[in-house]
Amino acid sequence: MKGLKKNFVVLSSKGGVGKSTVSTLLAFYAAERNLKVGLIDLDFTNPSTHVILGINPVEITYTEDKGLFPHKVNSLSYITPIAFTKDLPLPLRGDSVSKALLELLSILRLDGLEYLVIDTPPGLGDEHMDLMYKLGDLVKPLVVSTPSILSLGSVKRMIHLLKEANVGEVLLVENMGDGKLVEFARELDVVYLGYIPYYPGFDRCLGSLEGLRKCPIRGFFENILGKITQDA
Ligand SMILES: Nc1ncnc2c1ncn2[C@@H]1O[C@H](COP(=O)(O)OP(=O)(O)O)[C@@H](O)[C@H]1O
Ligand SMILES: [Mg+2]
Repeated sequence: MKGLKKNFVVLSSKGGVGKSTVSTLLAFYAAERNLKVGLIDLDFTNPSTHVILGINPVEITYTEDKGLFPHKVNSLSYITPIAFTKDLPLPLRGDSVSKALLELLSILRLDGLEYLVIDTPPGLGDEHMDLMYKLGDLVKPLVVSTPSILSLGSVKRMIHLLKEANVGEVLLVENMGDGKLVEFARELDVVYLGYIPYYPGFDRCLGSLEGLRKCPIRGFFENILGKITQDA
């Protein structure tokens, strides 16, 4: 990862706030801009990035040569555990999750990539902290939150933990919101990247690359992308 410009770990203490959506769309739109980007799904229990991209797990192939080369979705380099598990539940418990995550990361061949977006399972468990500690300043935490009070309390605790772990700058994306988390971000001293509105027809964007390309709320993701790729 050292050779890359920026690596983002997309985190949230809550499930269902849009981590997978935000990671996948940011990575896909970045690839559409001809940036060399990789998307890694580390949600071993509920991988969902392939559903957003509309990829059938059986079509995913990895080449091995002194490591594992990502599958290509057009120009997007893509790694998902669904390719190994083929929709079967993966019975990993306790620290075997952390071990599996780090092992997968350690064998990945990221040759030629500029950016990496890593989707993670909900929560801030041992596997997240292991990831953040081990990868240290190689990665930037990108926290996703909705403006709901149910999300905010838990995200606040998570941001405190990240700060205590000295992971450096913490980034925040407000999903299904209207911009009101600017103030929240200021109070917690995190970098506010922007918001994505709640879009009732979102399901129609998901499940195919053409749907993602034509998604009416694409502009909001593009704004965020502009910010995170600007000073790299
Ligand atoms: N901006 C949005 N507008 C409408 N629905 C959204 C938006 N962002 C995410 N969703 C929907 O919310 C649900 C949870 O999103 P997901 O990315 O799976 O969350 P997480 O990965 O945090 O669990 C999905 O059904 C997704 O389509
Ligand atoms: Mg998810």
